[in-house]
Amino acid sequence: MIDIKNLHKSFGNNEILKGIDLQINKGETAVIIGPSGSGKTTLLRCINLLEIPNEGSIAIGESKLVFNGNKKISNNEILELRKGTGMVFQGFYLFPHMTVIENIMEGQITVLKVSREEASKKALKLLAKVGLLEKKDHYPYELSGGQQQRVAIARAMAMEPEVILFDEPTSALDPELAAEVMKVMKELSREGMTMVVVTHKMSFAREAAHKVVFMDDGLIVEAGTPQQVFENTSNERLKQFLSIVDD
Ligand SMILES: Nc1ncnc2c1ncn2[C@@H]1O[C@H](COP(=O)(O)OP(=O)(O)OP(=O)(O)O)[C@@H](O)[C@H]1O
Ligand SMILES: [Mg+2]
Repeated sequence: MIDIKNLHKSFGNNEILKGIDLQINKGETAVIIGPSGSGKTTLLRCINLLEIPNEGSIAIGESKLVFNGNKKISNNEILELRKGTGMVFQGFYLFPHMTVIENIMEGQITVLKVSREEASKKALKLLAKVGLLEKKDHYPYELSGGQQQRVAIARAMAMEPEVILFDEPTSALDPELAAEVMKVMKELSREGMTMVVVTHKMSFAREAAHKVVFMDDGLIVEAGTPQQVFENTSNERLKQFLSIVDD
């Protein structure tokens, strides 16, 4: 489903990703953990081609791109791969001048070219799913952070991506609001959405992850089931990381 091979990314002379190999099967939830600055966000941004890797390859479903420093990647190639991914960021980034339902309809109409009626139908279904049907005609500023983030999840899902990437979707939220968002994410995971989640919430990783990936200094140091990573690791760096993260 997702196949990442030997991915490298540098900013100037600073190599941030140093050869990432990662496979995620359809329907799996992969949780990426690791210290600040280890390259987690950069990896997600590369998967979504918000950053263009310098070397390696990324395949998502049927689309595949091979990177080699000098070869230019065309906009069409970028759009083709990006079509398969949805992204939910730490901040909320809803369109502020659009109501909740319009936020969820927008991409369906402009990118997927579905009719307003169809887009609206799907938006209502997704709003019910994230528990926000009654907020459909509100503007983002009228919602709590947790509600905004649930709209962002519904908006990502409306595009029917093959995978949704989450970058610390709850880190800007109070615990109670974070729990609402985590609940929606756990449901998606249970329903078989393919997800890549960067989070400091080890409880989410324990409960929802099929695969936990520990990154340190631009490399995947350990990957396995939650049990392998949380209980059976012999890696000193990972043990140290787990001993200092709370949650
Ligand atoms: N656009 C950029 N230009 C230059 N350096 C960058 C850029 N984006 C990220 N970096 C650097 O890459 C390194 C990894 O950053 P990244 O944001 O991927 O880490 P992270 O694992 O997501 O950390 P955190 O847990 O704090 O979010 C950092 O040293 C950062 O300064
Ligand atoms: Mg980050």
